[in-house]
Amino acid sequence: MDQAQSDALVFFGATGDLAYKKIFPALQTLIKRGFLDVPIIGVAKAGWNLDQFKARARDSLDKHGGVDESAFRKMSSLLRYVDGAYEDPKTFMALREALGSAQRPIHYLAIPPVLFPVVVGQLGQSGCTKDARVIVEKPFGRDLTSAIALNRTLLANVDESAIYRIDHYLGKTPVRNLLYFRFANEILEPLWNRQHVESVQITMAENFGIQGRGAFYDEVGTIRDVMQNHLLQIVAHLAMEPPAGSDGESIRDERAKVMKSMLPLDPAGVVRGQFRGFHDEPGVAPGSTTETFAAARFEINSWRWKGVPFLIRSGKRLPVTCTEVLVRFRQPPLIYSSISPPANYFRFRISPDVSISLGAQVLEDGEQISGRTVELMVAEDAADGGMDAYARLLHDAMKGDATLFAREDSVEQAWRVVDPILGDRTPVFEYEPGAWGPNEAQRITEGHGAWNDPKVT
Ligand code: BG6
Repeated sequence: MDQAQSDALVFFGATGDLAYKKIFPALQTLIKRGFLDVPIIGVAKAGWNLDQFKARARDSLDKHGGVDESAFRKMSSLLRYVDGAYEDPKTFMALREALGSAQRPIHYLAIPPVLFPVVVGQLGQSGCTKDARVIVEKPFGRDLTSAIALNRTLLANVDESAIYRIDHYLGKTPVRNLLYFRFANEILEPLWNRQHVESVQITMAENFGIQGRGAFYDEVGTIRDVMQNHLLQIVAHLAMEPPAGSDGESIRDERAKVMKSMLPLDPAGVVRGQFRGFHDEPGVAPGSTTETFAAARFEINSWRWKGVPFLIRSGKRLPVTCTEVLVRFRQPPLIYSSISPPANYFRFRISPDVSISLGAQVLEDGEQISGRTVELMVAEDAADGGMDAYARLLHDAMKGDATLFAREDSVEQAWRVVDPILGDRTPVFEYEPGAWGPNEAQRITEGHGAWNDPKVT
């Protein structure tokens, strides 16, 4: 892995939504921590000047975490702005100029993937990719075929070792901790397999809708938006083998192996839902069958996991906003030949708060012998108390550390897994906003208890 520090940060889509919500706040965090002191060049076609661009940065910080005046002053001194169309070579000549003496820029493509080919092509032709790194954002394609084509386009201009594919879930501390927790605790390893684990559930619930992203979301849907990427990365951390080394590639190898061992989804194991009112959202096509909810049963064909279902669901307009993992162990035999204790479980709360608890059984005080479930809390912390996912990932990419980035093979394997159920191959069922998806989703967990509905207080 090439560890030289990037000496300029360029981001395309500088006036867009992602920059507004995530990138400016991440830049401020990095500046506050003393991690960022290179030119930051925004590129977009908005007809803006540098002052308007700086005003946008301030507004973004104001709405997302607050302005730190001293960090903002520093950011203002680092900001540059290039205005122009991505198809126009002049835009890239201006960028070349703005880069000045920078030798190792990093280019962040915070733009829709349809624009990747034109931007990487122009970067290549203008000499801006020499010794450069490129960050791209999900979605990396919309199915296996387009992902392969997209990777080919990127690789025609930039080496795989210089491509950083952001899946921001990999940058979240509790998602990174799934890996650490598993491999730093001796007591887990003997249990972490199909002999002891009965099922794994992951629920990523959002109580909000599509937040004005109707046109984008209607094209994408839940499976492409979060299942193929964020949720399968969580599966990779839960299911992977211990990496052979502490280097990034060893960890990425193990993630890729999990993806490779996953069976393609069976349409019978998938339920799609759409919240009532989706069609009224601006940008959504009338009669759209895009899902805003999906529940699916994934399987990993490996010695460790064969036969253990990974039951995953996610949706918009659900009762709460919360991501939780439940690793359920097998049920013990009857005790005192009559009491049937519920199974132990580990519950990993990824957001909005972070905790790990172990569900265990204890004897209830009383006349009759009976037990109750208690939770032993093994960790509790504020979500992203340290560096938020985007700040961490930007920092890592600029240092040349690709550990927390999705690699080409993992991305393509993840598409292979979901490919058979994309589009209208399964029906879409309507659900009421505020419900846990359509009732039909209950059948996905059949034989493995009910869905764990996370509670948020
Ligand atoms: C994004 C999806 O990748 O992740 C959104 O496009 C989703 O639809 C978001 O809301 C969730 O991220 P987080 O970090 O808020 O859980």
